[in-house]
Amino acid sequence: MTAAPRAPAAAPLGAELHDRLRDAAERLRAAGVATPRLDAELLLAHALQTRRERLPIDAARSLTAAEATAFAALIARRARREPVSHLLGRREFWSLDFAVGPAVLDPRPDSETLVETVLRRIVDRAAALSLLDLGTGSGCLILALLHELPNATGLGRDRSGDAVAVAAGNAAALGLAGRCRFEAGDWGDGLAGRFDIIVANPPYLTRREIDETAPEVKDFEPHLALDGGIDGLDAYRRLAPEIARLLGAEGFAAVEIGQGQGDVVRALFAAAGLEARDRAADLGGIERCLVFGHAAEAAKTGAGPQIAQQSGRVPI
Ligand SMILES: C[S@@+](CC[C@H](N)C(=O)[O-])C[C@H]1O[C@@H](n2cnc3c(N)ncnc32)[C@H](O)[C@@H]1O
Repeated sequence: MTAAPRAPAAAPLGAELHDRLRDAAERLRAAGVATPRLDAELLLAHALQTRRERLPIDAARSLTAAEATAFAALIARRARREPVSHLLGRREFWSLDFAVGPAVLDPRPDSETLVETVLRRIVDRAAALSLLDLGTGSGCLILALLHELPNATGLGRDRSGDAVAVAAGNAAALGLAGRCRFEAGDWGDGLAGRFDIIVANPPYLTRREIDETAPEVKDFEPHLALDGGIDGLDAYRRLAPEIARLLGAEGFAAVEIGQGQGDVVRALFAAAGLEARDRAADLGGIERCLVFGHAAEAAKTGAGPQIAQQSGRVPI
């Protein structure tokens, strides 16, 4: 019996796949991509609709013409410095899978510092805490927290309606939509009530720093997520009084900061009546997260039953 012809023209893999990866990595390297081989493998896996770990490098598998075309198109886009996450449409954060795209900042590993810091301060993770995330983007912060706090509820806000849609989609995909909602808004404008925990990772780059970032950032990430104004601090000036207004008497706020911004952000929040209670460094040892509570509460002995009273400083 003769084998039916395969369509479209399939090429044997093995050496051929190896060569494709090598050529693609070389093209990405020439385009200035920092991790050319890794990116080529991730994009090949995406074109083959498999996982990178499962790339059948030695397997007797064929690359169809459609797969070859898809891979070539992905490599061409990556060579123009489009981020891998945009090409894949996904990014992992806190070991959870998030949809991402041009409307939202790519969740950064450094921002996991904020999640860790918040969780470390919660005594009873089963408590019915209320969370507010200002500048929610993909929703990564509030959704990671809700994932760890089974009885907490949350509100995520962003000035970008497109970001709000991405965050809401992520909440649904992660099975958390029943405990959170997302809305468009300018920081805390028009928001009433008090929250137990407020988190914010606002834009904090200076205009000059944006100009100096890689093309993946300055050409493809939303400037609304990056631009902190001339000195990088515009958002903190707005957020300090709004967080003071929206934070419950015994609650705390965790705010991500840019490198070297700690002292001035502490001063801005102190001027709004918020006292620095804690801080944490990212994996690179850079002060990345500040925790605040109402200054008046510091004099009291009683904190809420679910939230740690200690304000131990973390060595940086
Ligand atoms: C640095 S990104 C952080 C996104 C996400 N929370 C994270 O950690 O990946 C800052 C976010 O703040 C939003 N943003 C900027 N200005 C805002 C404003 N005035 N009110 C509300 N959100 C704003 C941006 O759209 C962006 O999603």
